[in-house]
Amino acid sequence: METPISVPQWARLAAESSRLRQSTLRALLDTPGRGQLHLELDGLLFDFSRQFVSDAVLNLFGDVCELSEFSSRREVLWRGDISNPTEKRAVTHVALRGSSNDAAATAARTQRERAEAFARDVRSGAFPGATGRRITHVVNIGIGGSDLGPAMVYRALASWASGPECRFVSNIDPVDLDRALHGLDPQTTLVIVSSKTMTTSETMHNASRARAWLEASIGDSAMAHMVASTASPDAAVQWGVSGEHVFGFADSVGGRFSVSSVIGLPLMIGLGPEVFDAMLGGMSAMDTHFHEQSWECNIPAVHAFITVLNSTVHQMSSLAVIPYSHDLSRLPAFLQQLLMESNGKSVAIDGQSVDASSPIVWGEPGTNGQHAFFQLLHQGTQVVPVDFIAVVRTTSSDTAAQRMLLANLLAQAEVLALGRTLEEVLTEGVDAELAPHKVFSGNRPNSIIALRELSPRLLGMLIAMYEHSTAVQGWLWGVNSFDQFGVEHGKVVASRNIPLLDPAEGVTGLSASFAKACEIAGMWMRDNL
Ligand code: F6P
Repeated sequence: METPISVPQWARLAAESSRLRQSTLRALLDTPGRGQLHLELDGLLFDFSRQFVSDAVLNLFGDVCELSEFSSRREVLWRGDISNPTEKRAVTHVALRGSSNDAAATAARTQRERAEAFARDVRSGAFPGATGRRITHVVNIGIGGSDLGPAMVYRALASWASGPECRFVSNIDPVDLDRALHGLDPQTTLVIVSSKTMTTSETMHNASRARAWLEASIGDSAMAHMVASTASPDAAVQWGVSGEHVFGFADSVGGRFSVSSVIGLPLMIGLGPEVFDAMLGGMSAMDTHFHEQSWECNIPAVHAFITVLNSTVHQMSSLAVIPYSHDLSRLPAFLQQLLMESNGKSVAIDGQSVDASSPIVWGEPGTNGQHAFFQLLHQGTQVVPVDFIAVVRTTSSDTAAQRMLLANLLAQAEVLALGRTLEEVLTEGVDAELAPHKVFSGNRPNSIIALRELSPRLLGMLIAMYEHSTAVQGWLWGVNSFDQFGVEHGKVVASRNIPLLDPAEGVTGLSASFAKACEIAGMWMRDNL
């Protein structure tokens, strides 16, 4: 497969964008009409004026879109046809929130309505459990896409929390489950086993321990307090969940794209079905925008293009996502799986190697990041593009603090782009010897994605925007965004290591490089047991 920038269309685009980079963002931002480089949809604003793009670059992006078969691939995704060729599967997360009457959307609607009816029973106290007592807490056990999406949304929409308190357990580190169960009464706790496959070792170990915790208090009726959200209902029933408590979704929904499926059950319970449906409404609005808008007016497509442009053409190896919203503090973690598990690939769909794919995605909320890593962002030797996520209206009464928050975001975006020249530093009277330390090179590209408020609808639009941008990035790099073979082998090796680390057996059989360390670890474990 030819890599993106090795084909003429990308080469012309790369040359034009590199020319802009030579002229600097400071010069670009002075040009008339620069402020037009933004797209808006119903309370979500995407401002990409501080990127190495121009009308000329965007026109050349059109040629690249044709090359990557943007329109036809979008139709395949929209119809729910085979978009995941290595696993010979359709990709149907759009059907989860669609209003169409096709088979996938109809099945998804039925599955959602069944889960939402259960959530209403739990919230109202109609769900009897084993003792007839109202459920006060939910413990969701899942990992990856079965945790990151629901946990991020639950935190983001904390203002809408109204039902039982939801806690999220993901890690096999035993203290994760210990901390979640601490202080809870098994008789008023519902455990959700969230697993697309019902085979993930961390989840199934934690689920077994949670079951034992329930049984210790409730006895044989413990399974009345365990439900499962899964694409493997038979495996859930075989594990012990009663059929009426298994909430299924289609195998064609990828784990990292599953927050709008019944994997969102903790959200239906903790926030309410109406809030969950409002989030789906926002996702559906972004779906329609993505499906209907031509690429130059298409928010996910332009976002994807800029992400590929910076990482592949301008060789910027990471992307920082900085939400200036403390309730969005788990958004970077969610996007790490969505973007890097989707496009962290080195083989194209046709089996040929590619030498360009996903940047490293990372981030923390602002303004905290300003006191942690913004030094590198401003004056480091590596240029790191930034997606600033702004939430304009706050749910707090402290509007003065909200103004400070937004003022900081705008300042950081400006300084990254414009920098601060030596002349400017000297005119401020800075000592000539010190001056070089106070120069900011600027020319550091960044976008602002602003939400009018952090509502369920606008959060849904933001999530869907990144979901579709992820798919378009994969089309541009030529990789399959919907498989994840890279995570399978580590699981196999881990399962081989477990008995080797059994203190009773003595640590043997590990490769020499680990031997001494594991001998010490084994000794410590023996002492710990
Ligand atoms: O990380 C690999 C992976 O398969 C993810 O794609 C998935 O979200 C996660 O593990 C959990 O898988 P499951 O939902 O099947 O337990």
